[in-house]
Amino acid sequence: MPVNIGFIGTGMIALQHGQALQMLDRPLRIRAAYDIDAANARTFAEQTGAQCCSSVQQLLAMDLDAVYICTRHDSHHALVRAAAQADKAIFCEKPLALEPDQAEDMVDLVTRRDIPFTVGFNHRFSPGVMELKRRVQGKLPRSMHVSLVSPPFLHGWAGLPDVGGGILHCLGSHVFDLTCHLMGTAPDDLAVFTERQRVADDHLDDTAVAIMRFPGGRLASMQFHDNGTTPYSVDPEAALVRLEVFLDGQVAGGYPLRSMHFDQGEGMDYFSVPDPRRVVSWGYEGINRHFVQYLTGELKHPPVSIQEALTIVKLVHAAHTSQITGSVVRISDDQRDTLYRGTPCCDTPYRNTAFRAAGKAAE
Ligand SMILES: NC(=O)c1ccc[n+]([C@@H]2O[C@H](COP(=O)([O-])OP(=O)(O)OC[C@H]3O[C@@H](n4cnc5c(N)ncnc54)[C@H](O)[C@@H]3O)[C@@H](O)[C@H]2O)c1
Repeated sequence: MPVNIGFIGTGMIALQHGQALQMLDRPLRIRAAYDIDAANARTFAEQTGAQCCSSVQQLLAMDLDAVYICTRHDSHHALVRAAAQADKAIFCEKPLALEPDQAEDMVDLVTRRDIPFTVGFNHRFSPGVMELKRRVQGKLPRSMHVSLVSPPFLHGWAGLPDVGGGILHCLGSHVFDLTCHLMGTAPDDLAVFTERQRVADDHLDDTAVAIMRFPGGRLASMQFHDNGTTPYSVDPEAALVRLEVFLDGQVAGGYPLRSMHFDQGEGMDYFSVPDPRRVVSWGYEGINRHFVQYLTGELKHPPVSIQEALTIVKLVHAAHTSQITGSVVRISDDQRDTLYRGTPCCDTPYRNTAFRAAGKAAE
């Protein structure tokens, strides 16, 4: 039986997920699409073969196994509620929600109804990150740095406080998730500085640095902003994400969307992403493959759990507090222990086609 999928919100990221799903070579159909902008829905339908719906209700009434929610951040809460009440499995784009109480409500509903659920933290599935996880084999970094530098976009809806939530939700959520994923837990403490360097006054700050201290005195630093350019950050070299990770006797660094270098005590070793297409190298193919295998019962865990996504909403909230008060924010033990369990995608026999192409197994 094919997996039947519908999309709510059919802008930029929906097209990436649509392309990723189509290349999985599995029995699945993208059957339905709805967008408040009918022209966007038509473009998506032309690329995927989906039927355009005239409302969320019409889409949710269809015989769909899963719904992708790829809208602006202010609508994730209501749309997840609607899809969960219609008993659809859900792939929700990041961030899960703008506020922790909304995210708590989503976790409560999804858990009570036993809804298969994931969130679009695709950077865990970039080939460089997968290769790093494979090589360190469960060892945790002593310290790390990650930067995420995108071309300008925070002057649009993403930078508005009540619609996109600004840099901390838009880029911070990705950076916090990747950091917690690699450090294996959520931090004890977090501090953030932000500045508005480019966008208008009605938008939130566009430039941020953050530091986190993890259990055992392990440390992470982060830089994220949208002062990149398309040639630098996105095409063709994908310097969007830069990573440096230090373990006992091991060092890894580079650009996980294109190339990494490793020293595991035997001299430098280089890894190049075998398939440079964005849909693969940015982890979209990987996270979608994992989600579909989770839906069909081939994999036990979702690519990203809703509890982890809730933790990231709480970390973004803590980052807002730090930004406003200028202080270090302590993350409580119960939040860290119960809500960030780490790395399900690497506990599974997951394989990325990029690694298959290179003759390597990711896990
Ligand atoms: N994981 C990633 O790498 C990544 C990258 C970019 C964006 N995103 C996330 O994807 C989501 C969408 O971002 P985008 O870049 O595709 O934005 P976009 O503006 O290109 O597309 C959003 C679409 O949602 C539609 N929309 C808005 N509100 C809606 C509603 N209530 N019902 C139906 N349609 C609605 C808009 O008309 C638009 O077509 C956001 O959550 C964003 O953070 C993730």
